[in-house]
Amino acid sequence: MARRKYVVGNWKMHGVSADILEISGIASAAAESSNVDVALCLPATLIERAVRSVSGFSFGGQDVHQEAKGAHTGCVSAPMLLDAGASLTIVGHSERRAGQCETDQQVRAKAESALGAGLDVILCIGESLEVREAGQALSTVQAQLDASLPHGEGAAAGVPAKFAIAYEPMWAIGTGKVASTADIREMHSALRERLVAAYGDAGNEVRILYGGSVSASNASEIFAVDDVDGALVGGASLTAEKFVPIVIAAA
Ligand code: G3P
Repeated sequence: MARRKYVVGNWKMHGVSADILEISGIASAAAESSNVDVALCLPATLIERAVRSVSGFSFGGQDVHQEAKGAHTGCVSAPMLLDAGASLTIVGHSERRAGQCETDQQVRAKAESALGAGLDVILCIGESLEVREAGQALSTVQAQLDASLPHGEGAAAGVPAKFAIAYEPMWAIGTGKVASTADIREMHSALRERLVAAYGDAGNEVRILYGGSVSASNASEIFAVDDVDGALVGGASLTAEKFVPIVIAAA
């Protein structure tokens, strides 16, 4: 099934107002690849300024609380992201699953809350090096996906059109070590099966992105793999010079 390519930058904890010029350069160059959906997920503090400065481009958050409001110091809700002009959010990034002890159940609740509020969602999953080396990557990541997938009203509101998965092997994030195309093909195929098991035919429409040291030099090879519908890019999304060639490779 042909699915529109989706290339998203995750700026993580990078980005202040002085970076708006770089963001504008990314947006204007990306606009030339009309057959690829492109977005940047920024620190929450930068989203509104980016939205005001750059028209016709999609900006997102990098996490969202599972509740719409409440006594949750330091957290950001889906309504707050929408209010800032964001149209999407990442949930379940491994740096939060590990660093903030986020459980699969919390990630599911975050995805359901964000979809229910009208945000597009990119749900991240991926295995550790220990799990990969123990030969348990497929079973572990499939179980993680099954336990994290949104169901109920949230899913009904956004699956498949507003929902994507990002497979990001933890050992490939920020390391320069990219998963082999054989491993990517095997994992994305297995994740596609789980999506169809969960959502029926709609599961075939959910886009599955790869993330983990994607760059201009490896993007074309990765995008050629079956069931790779795009990329979630960290370090190589911080400048137009590095990010735009990845967008062009997806076109
Ligand atoms: O969310 C994307 C990120 O985890 C990948 O980072 O720097 O390996 O592209 P990087």
